[in-house]
Amino acid sequence: MGVRGPRKAAAVLLGSSFGEINMNGLIRYLSHLYQTIVHSSNIFAPASAPAHDIFRLSMFVLAITMCIFLIVSGLLLYVLIRFRQRVDDNGREPAQVYGSNQIELSWTVIPVLIVMVLFLATVRVILEIEHTREPVNALNVIVVGHQFWWEFRYPQYGIVTANELHVPVSDGSKNPTPTYLTLLAADVNHSFWVPRLAGKTDLIANRVNTMWIQPEAAGLYLGQCAEYCGLQHAHMLLRVYAQSPADFQQWVEQQQQKAVQDPSVAEGRAVFERNACINCHTIAGTVATGHFGPDLTHLMSRETIASGVVPNTRDILRHWIENPDSLKPGALMPAMKLGDHDLDAVTAYLLTLR
Ligand code: CUA
Repeated sequence: MGVRGPRKAAAVLLGSSFGEINMNGLIRYLSHLYQTIVHSSNIFAPASAPAHDIFRLSMFVLAITMCIFLIVSGLLLYVLIRFRQRVDDNGREPAQVYGSNQIELSWTVIPVLIVMVLFLATVRVILEIEHTREPVNALNVIVVGHQFWWEFRYPQYGIVTANELHVPVSDGSKNPTPTYLTLLAADVNHSFWVPRLAGKTDLIANRVNTMWIQPEAAGLYLGQCAEYCGLQHAHMLLRVYAQSPADFQQWVEQQQQKAVQDPSVAEGRAVFERNACINCHTIAGTVATGHFGPDLTHLMSRETIASGVVPNTRDILRHWIENPDSLKPGALMPAMKLGDHDLDAVTAYLLTLR
């Protein structure tokens, strides 16, 4: 007790609830950081069909602009050296030259041609990606951008989850299983961006956008909201778990279960159900059917909370429930002002929701 606000949040993150940093917590934190960097959202490491097209286009654009850069800076360097001030200069201005049709024509026509080439190449890639026909065994996911978290709905499977998107790996050209995303916004606008999987597409209120991804290797792909959506925009992280078809099927079956009903945490469940938690959160099979916040039916199957900002561990979860604002200032979840006893009980209950 006693340590409040950001310092306490840091202490919880580092694995110590008493305000001092312990070694194990620090190592856990560093390894978490390392994982994040290894699986980083590297734009130069595409791992999905649309991302490959975009990568090739960016290489083409980079090559052209690199040539322009080299020519312009080369000429500049030449002029700087060739016409530098010398000791035997007479101090007079050099001859001023006006109007050269050849030079003016060339610096108008060449850039226009270059811009045309870049424009056409870009349009081609955009149309190619947008007009790819959806195969019959594509997975459909509805993405709803909320301030400040992501909701993922799988209408084919009746699953609702948050912040961590699970999709199958697509097994090559003969039987592709891409994931088609329908992008919606609940309140403010966002942009869905997982660089290794596809380009950015905005989630705009009162508009339906679509995009698709086709991860070719299992693993975790990180992304980020790419459209300013308010105070916690930078903390609106995306995690896409690409899984083998068998693993994905297993995940689907697990997510389709009703919430675990463990009698040993009945007290915590009662605290949850008599507080305003149920107005915003759903836990399948209970009175909690709210939709403003993430579905908590299988909360503990997620590795992170608060849109990928913090690991989903007991201490952090408890701290989050106690004061969401200290981990994510401006988050729309209110602190319920629970006492220590109720806080422990609710946390224990949530920990059973696997
Ligand atoms: Cu959501 Cu920025």
